[in-house]
Amino acid sequence: FTFSALSFWLALILAGFLGIHITGSFVRSQKNHTLIFTKENTIRNCSCSVDIRDCDYCLANLMCNCKTVLPSTMEKTTYKSHLTIWFTDTSVLEMLLNFTRVWDLKLSFCGTTPLPTEYLAIWGLQKLRVKKVKGLFPEQSVTIYSSSNNEKENLLAMHNKDRQMLAHISFLDTSLFNGYSLLKSYSVENVSSIMEHFPSLLYSDVSPTSDNKSYVVTFIY
Ligand SMILES: *[C@@H]1O[C@H](CO)[C@@H](O)[C@H](O)[C@H]1NC(C)=O
Ligand SMILES: *[C@@H]1O[C@H](CO)[C@@H](O)[C@H](O)[C@H]1NC(C)=O
Ligand SMILES: *[C@@H]1O[C@H](CO)[C@@H](O)[C@H](O)[C@H]1NC(C)=O
Ligand SMILES: *[C@@H]1O[C@H](CO)[C@@H](O)[C@H](O)[C@H]1NC(C)=O
Repeated sequence: FTFSALSFWLALILAGFLGIHITGSFVRSQKNHTLIFTKENTIRNCSCSVDIRDCDYCLANLMCNCKTVLPSTMEKTTYKSHLTIWFTDTSVLEMLLNFTRVWDLKLSFCGTTPLPTEYLAIWGLQKLRVKKVKGLFPEQSVTIYSSSNNEKENLLAMHNKDRQMLAHISFLDTSLFNGYSLLKSYSVENVSSIMEHFPSLLYSDVSPTSDNKSYVVTFIY
């Protein structure tokens, strides 16, 4: 009798502990983030409240709120919260990212074919996390700049900050996903004309904005 009473109490305590623990992790992971992935020529745009293991498409479809995106209806967007992209080739990455604005980005390469050297231009990138070659290598990250305000204030002050954000542009070399090498970044400040300073980039899209703004140009490789 004493034994069963003891196990009863132990079970109760354990259940209580697990209950608290589960509620705790539930509360912690409440914040939704965007996950975009491509699978068999369809692009899925998901809102996830939990972290999904890289390239686990089934789990993402199950756990996140996903919808299919038609490439023809896709527009360049600004991502105000964390964005994760799982990709297998640069063409989709280009559609999703080239000349968009993303503050906080994670890129996971889920393909097997090595990627060519191409440059993606990303506005306002603050923090990048990279997972290479189907997770064979540990995740790496680089912080390009950090804003003094916390995230919430950032969102509220979005309108004011917008102009300032525009001055940061990062060029990401897509071949960095191919093998093991340290993720590196190099920034050049006070660039008044990208065309003039980096003529080999030849991106007409970043050519003269009307004002006399200066850019911080970052290369990620
Ligand atoms: C993905 O969905 C988010 C909102 O959940 C939206 O802001 C974003 O523009 C979408 N991206 C694409 C490529 O459809
Ligand atoms: C991004 O856009 C520029 C200009 O249109 C283009 O030259 C470049 O190849 C694109 N990047 C990728 C990775 O496709
Ligand atoms: C950029 O320009 C500002 C003002 O013109 C100057 O104070 C700053 O030192 C410059 N930074 C670099 C890295 O040259
Ligand atoms: C460019 O700078 C000059 C003075 O340095 C200023 O008078 C002018 O308003 C600025 N132009 C824009 C578009 O910000």
